Amino acid sequence: MKNLWGGRFASGVDPLAWQYNASIAIDWRLAEVDIQGSIAWAKALAQCDVLQQSEMDSIIEGLYAVLAEVQSDNFQLQPTDEDVHTAIERRLTEIIGPLGGKLHTGRSRNDQVASDFNLWLQLAIAQVDEFLRILQTALVDRAEKDMGIILSGYTHLQQSQPILLSHWWLSYFWPLVRDRQRLQELKQRASVLPLGSGAMAGTPYPIDRDFLAAELGFSLVSPNSIDAVSNRDAAAEFLFFSALLAVHLSKLSEGLILYSTSEFGFIQLADAYTTGSSLMPQKKNPDTLELTRGKSGTIIGRLTGLLSTLKGLPSTYDKDLQEDKQPVFETYDNLCMMLPVMTGVLESLQVNAQRMQANMNPSILATDLADYLVAKGVPFREAHALVGQAVRLAEEQNLDLSQLPLKAYQTISPMFKEEVYQVFCFETAVEKKNSVGGTSSEAVSLQINKAKQFIDSQ
Ligand code: ARG
Repeated sequence: MKNLWGGRFASGVDPLAWQYNASIAIDWRLAEVDIQGSIAWAKALAQCDVLQQSEMDSIIEGLYAVLAEVQSDNFQLQPTDEDVHTAIERRLTEIIGPLGGKLHTGRSRNDQVASDFNLWLQLAIAQVDEFLRILQTALVDRAEKDMGIILSGYTHLQQSQPILLSHWWLSYFWPLVRDRQRLQELKQRASVLPLGSGAMAGTPYPIDRDFLAAELGFSLVSPNSIDAVSNRDAAAEFLFFSALLAVHLSKLSEGLILYSTSEFGFIQLADAYTTGSSLMPQKKNPDTLELTRGKSGTIIGRLTGLLSTLKGLPSTYDKDLQEDKQPVFETYDNLCMMLPVMTGVLESLQVNAQRMQANMNPSILATDLADYLVAKGVPFREAHALVGQAVRLAEEQNLDLSQLPLKAYQTISPMFKEEVYQVFCFETAVEKKNSVGGTSSEAVSLQINKAKQFIDSQ
């Protein structure tokens, strides 16, 4: 087969080996950024007189013609197109003639692909960040809309203490803040330009790399050509960011799946985000949430896969690195569905406040009961033990703590007085947690403001 590097080969590549080697099916989506990189490269070559001005003009004009074909889906891929870079150079040369062959002067696909990938990552990061902002807004909207609704919080999936539902919604907001911060940090790493590193030793032409970086919107140029052609940190970090984000979304999904069961009945998912069963007519399954939970596992796998690939490499470029794009592209595609779908689920679900209220057992106020004794001067450890006795007594008599008679309380401690029953109010228990970051209405209102401030500051 004819290809761009065949000069030293006596025989062609085995067809299966050719297919095995080719990456066009995966890296074609780099076409636009590849052309963008080539336009900047042509300008840099002209700046240092490797290309004459007129040659540069023809090359750039040709590249725009190729770009137009790419954007209108009219680019005809050929069986000899090994990857996106060779395909575009092949087409450029068809359009402008042998002059196209001058474009690759001083450049290697090694610095080219690393630059393309970083350029692409910067675009992907901006898109994912926007989806995240919208999802965060949906969570804050829910928190505002559901203000005042109380439910039990759970630890170990056992009822623990009453909380505001808004507080629970916001507990999924802050992990996304950290995710977005991570995304901004990794954006800086993707903003270092490898172009000008050549195959691995640098380029012999006096290319102005700072000019290239400015042309392509990068903030820095890579400081070491050997590192530059093998550096895939930004890709690995993108996968780590995605894996952790997916874990956060999985946790939210699991919470919603649980709360939408008939056993809990706290929320009802909209028909639009559920599916039925082919056999059981009554079923309304939370498939979208299950898929998010499931895909989070797949994304973790892709991170592990890329790290394992990188781990095996010696210095500079090795073909193993071609394995870098598929996991990143697939993960990006997943996120571009996961995030808007999750937003839709949140916006459309119904909350059943009555079920949440009815489900709460007064025993979740046992800590408040201990605090009642603490207010009377009883050391907390002792108060904990005394309330523990009350819990046991109530359980033996098949009562809840609010039903246990005063006499019974007083057999445990004379510190329990008539007003003890005032403790058994979920609202009071919630409002008492007025520490910063706590669940009282005031603290949660402040939290909502902070959340909105974060969104506006991004
Ligand atoms: N398709 C290759 C990749 O994605 C481009 C770089 C090829 N470089 C090379 N020396 N064969 O990694």
